[in-house]
Amino acid sequence: MKIILDRRSSEPVYLQIRNRIRHLIEAEKLQAGDRLPSIRALAEATQVNKLTVIEAYSMLEADGLIYARPGAGYFVYEQSIETPVPATFAPRQEVIIPETREMSYFEICTAVGHANLQEDVINFASGFPMIGAVEDLQRIARRAVKGVGDELFRYDFPQGQIGLRKQIAQLLLHKGLEVSPEELIVTNGSMQGLSLTMQHYLKPGDWAIVESPNYHGALAVLQGIGARVIGIPMTPDGMNLMLLEQYLRSHRPKLIYTISTLHNPTGITTSQPHRQQLLALAEQYDCVVLEDNAYEGLSFEAVPPPIKAIDRSDPTGISKAGRVIYLGTFSKTLMPGLRVGYMVVTGTAYQALLERKLLSDLCVSTVSQAIVSEYLATGHYRRYLNQLRTQNLTNRNTMLKALERYFPQEATWTVPNGGLFLWVTLPEGLPMQAICHAAALQKVFIVPGSTFFPNQQGYPALRLNFSQSPEAIEQGIRILGDLLKTRMKRCS
Ligand SMILES: Cc1ncc(COP(=O)(O)O)c(C=O)c1O
Repeated sequence: MKIILDRRSSEPVYLQIRNRIRHLIEAEKLQAGDRLPSIRALAEATQVNKLTVIEAYSMLEADGLIYARPGAGYFVYEQSIETPVPATFAPRQEVIIPETREMSYFEICTAVGHANLQEDVINFASGFPMIGAVEDLQRIARRAVKGVGDELFRYDFPQGQIGLRKQIAQLLLHKGLEVSPEELIVTNGSMQGLSLTMQHYLKPGDWAIVESPNYHGALAVLQGIGARVIGIPMTPDGMNLMLLEQYLRSHRPKLIYTISTLHNPTGITTSQPHRQQLLALAEQYDCVVLEDNAYEGLSFEAVPPPIKAIDRSDPTGISKAGRVIYLGTFSKTLMPGLRVGYMVVTGTAYQALLERKLLSDLCVSTVSQAIVSEYLATGHYRRYLNQLRTQNLTNRNTMLKALERYFPQEATWTVPNGGLFLWVTLPEGLPMQAICHAAALQKVFIVPGSTFFPNQQGYPALRLNFSQSPEAIEQGIRILGDLLKTRMKRCS
């Protein structure tokens, strides 16, 4: 492969390399599966620094044109983003207003955590991403704490380190959300931002809108506050906006909680018009929007800017926009154990939420913040994310094919463009608890989809985490498929 660089050009060298390779792939001079020269070989051939080649390869990875195979090098991508099967998600549209929730979030988290510790269990129930090479993590963590003064080990400001907030602001800019570091609060995971916001805006008895099904952690927080929940059903395009308007009018809720990108558990990403309409309704009925995009970084393709990016109004009437509070996290893209998330709060709520945050935990671990900051500063974050997305895409496609092969014909599922989960809808009448038990006996761990409905019932469904090895996915889905078919025969 010959790459001629123009050193007098205003185009940076890494971009020239990326554009040349891109051209070779598009012109099919480099074919699917072809191996690219090693970083060192290309750096020598073009007489550039190895970091320049790494930068170019990282961009090609982000473009979805090449992928890294650990220990083997870089290859031209073999799969297209095209999904192997079309989505068939068409659930019944039932609004759920629960009286109580019986199974506690604590119990579910504990059970999932224990299953994760068992090496021979295929855990489809967890909300965890795959963890990258441990040596990389150790190296970056060491670098993050090396050579810094004792300030790293003191209390920090509740809003978090300014350097990290600047980096997060930069990251958000790439997602189409322009914020200043002064509008960011670093939180202990997005769960803390979620709790603080709900506690700030809701009193016992207040109404709150959620998508149904939904992230069970958010449902548990609402229950803890004593808020009344209205579960608006998901359609293939996001929350059913017609029903949303109906319930905004009839119940005057104070808050809408939405996962606009790569929704947990369905994996659905809403369109720009859906986002605009949801915000317009929130404005019309004077309701705060809590946008929790924990999985946004894991998208296989470009997604619309967050709802926060089109937030122009302020419920307090003060000029700065402040209707939407946006949550993000490094838990799903880097690792959940660091507990680093962030919230974007504009307008008058910022100070109030910051004070709540201070009373909640004083500050986020300075060491964790430093590790995330090091990942971002060195470009490792982007590279790691590219690898993770490539791996997730392979895993998602493996799961889709396995579902097609092993699951009963009556089952349907969403085809998410990223994230960690897909959502399988099953025929009515299946004894889901018994199926989960039977699966556990064969070392496949699942929790019933009812966990994600506000009333812990809903239609029979499963949320399946595809961040597993392709072998585990194939085996686990085969076991589940057999179980479901056997149960269906018994039910008929
Ligand atoms: C939608 C959603 N929000 C928030 C969280 C909490 O994540 P964190 O680890 O950042 O607190 C999760 C975790 O599963 C989630 O799925």
